[in-house]
Amino acid sequence: MKQELLFSQNTISSRTKELASQISADYSEKEPVIVGVLNGAVFFLADIVREMTIPLKIDFIRAASYGAGCSSSGSVRLTKGLEIPIKDKPVILVEDIVDTGLTLSKISDIIMEQGPESVKICSLIDKQERRENNIVIDYCGFQVKEGFLVGYGLDYDEQYRYLKDIYILRF
Ligand code: PRP
Repeated sequence: MKQELLFSQNTISSRTKELASQISADYSEKEPVIVGVLNGAVFFLADIVREMTIPLKIDFIRAASYGAGCSSSGSVRLTKGLEIPIKDKPVILVEDIVDTGLTLSKISDIIMEQGPESVKICSLIDKQERRENNIVIDYCGFQVKEGFLVGYGLDYDEQYRYLKDIYILRF
């Protein structure tokens, strides 16, 4: 398998700073709960919150949508819920990638049941090739048409997550 560079560490970092300042401006009077979707979003979440200039809280949720390999199982299973109360709070869901959109739509539904003031979505990558719904990404880092992406949290069978840059994997 070959890796082809798609977004360098510098490119990711500049775009992350832009998104963080946009979110900081939009939430200047608020204290959002930033919810990372494990595992992939950990690097992006850690980087983006440290560029924000507003008070915020951090929590994590986990939904397994893919098995081993690169094909979606089509089903989404919640394996870890929130621990911070979000009733009447503004929530921002942070993802590394939105692919079919099934994971985020399931997570949004579960979060909405807890009565937050609002739920917005921030995803580093919006990959539209296999989208199965009309999910709205409020803060999007990059739009990508196709390809299997790895690095910066994105894995192939749990490999490549630790890479600083994002690559397209050629099979
Ligand atoms: C990946 C990614 C998103 C989801 C996107 O997570 O981090 O959560 O898939 O896919 P979808 O839009 O088709 O639902 P994955 O389930 O692979 O777990 P991981 O974050 O631990 O890699």
